Amino acid sequence: MPKKKKTTNKSQWKNAAWEGRFSEAADRDAAAFTTSFAFDRVLFPYDIQGSIVHTEGLARAGLLTASEKRSLISGLKKIDKEMRAETEAGLANRMLVDEDIHMHIERRLVEKIGAVGGKLHTGRSRNDQVALDLRLYLRDETKRTLEMIDLLQRSLVLRAEAEIETCLPGYTHLQRAQPVSLAHHLLAYFEMLERDFGRFEDSLVRLDESPLGAGALAGNSFGIDRMANARALGFSTVTANSIDTVCDRDFVIEYLGASATLMMHLSRWAEDWILWASTEFGFIELPDRLSTGSSMMPQKKNPDILELIRGKTGRVYGNLMRLLTLLKGLPLSYNRDLQEDKEALFDTVETVKSSLWMMLRLTNEVEFKRARMEAAANEGLLLATDLADYLVTQGLPFRQAHRVVGKIVAQSIKTGQAIQEWTLPTFQGFSPLFKADLYDRLTLKGALQKKGGIGGTATRSIKSALRKIKKRW
Ligand code: ARG
Repeated sequence: MPKKKKTTNKSQWKNAAWEGRFSEAADRDAAAFTTSFAFDRVLFPYDIQGSIVHTEGLARAGLLTASEKRSLISGLKKIDKEMRAETEAGLANRMLVDEDIHMHIERRLVEKIGAVGGKLHTGRSRNDQVALDLRLYLRDETKRTLEMIDLLQRSLVLRAEAEIETCLPGYTHLQRAQPVSLAHHLLAYFEMLERDFGRFEDSLVRLDESPLGAGALAGNSFGIDRMANARALGFSTVTANSIDTVCDRDFVIEYLGASATLMMHLSRWAEDWILWASTEFGFIELPDRLSTGSSMMPQKKNPDILELIRGKTGRVYGNLMRLLTLLKGLPLSYNRDLQEDKEALFDTVETVKSSLWMMLRLTNEVEFKRARMEAAANEGLLLATDLADYLVTQGLPFRQAHRVVGKIVAQSIKTGQAIQEWTLPTFQGFSPLFKADLYDRLTLKGALQKKGGIGGTATRSIKSALRKIKKRW
């Protein structure tokens, strides 16, 4: 047994930032409970970027000399470099010493450049600082999410282009309904993703405001040029109200909301493909390298990646609920509860990125079992609606046509003879309106090509959808 180090409840947790007001250092338990450094460390590049711009703003406002400014900026840049190189092990030591990433960087700055480091926090609070860090982080991550959605959409288009003529059963109520083109089915996922793309893109508009200068809640007293700072950080404007600014997390909720919908889409898609990978469907073959086996049953090949995408959807919904619940009872303005926003956000960002990436891999690499799809589309009277449509073109009201074909279906089920094999007189026994040209409608191709309007499954409709998609790019 390694010897336990003697720990005291004191000095280690001393916090220089507010020791003036306090008669004792923070209790170890209190410090451990309140620190966020273990998880908000990922914000360090944004925290430093914000601090550099804030330093420049302070200098412009005459609050720093040129040499103070230089020393602050070079100290911050050194910390940035060091932190990029820091290992997890090295970090573990620092973990509990600082309350959060902001205190951490400020402490290191003072250690590096001396007392002048203490000027950095002039006219700024961690409340506007953390709001800024989160916006900068989310601006980058939202762009990354958009890039990944776009990649997945491109992959779907590539696969769809090669499957326009591949026919499979389309389903409603998970019962075979009407034949559709596989390309059409794949492009359904494309459209879901297109709406997701729009939601993330739209959220960037509201993200595009700088909170810096809102201070703790009331603004800053130093005449800092907020607009100049905002521009330097790549924002087009500043937030309008300091009280709102320090406790607004709508932009986090928007990312989580858009992510919840995106994951819902990926989950439905995953569900389709889990079914398709089953022996019962047999519509796809997942590559071995993207599947898992069973520790007990030697024959198994499991679609675990798809199941995990479906499963992780619950996590993302949970994270959205975390934030909504976190915020619902908060009085204005900043409250420490808000620190709980981070893990929900970071976890969502990582989950969304990894799920999109795995869906991209699967889309690129899955094998479509065309013959199996086509055979399934030929079974099960999928052309019944087309038969009714045929009678409609012969002048019969649809309701009556439906009844006639209903009887034909019942007969086919009773005799076990597929309607494609029926003779013309057999059809005419049900309605004199049947003519020889009905057989043109009784093929999968014939049925597909009739659905030639906008949004339909005919080759010309799919080709025109693909053209529109490419024009949008
Ligand atoms: N770690 C805090 C958070 O994430 C930073 C802001 C702390 N502000 C404060 N007044 N205690 O929200």
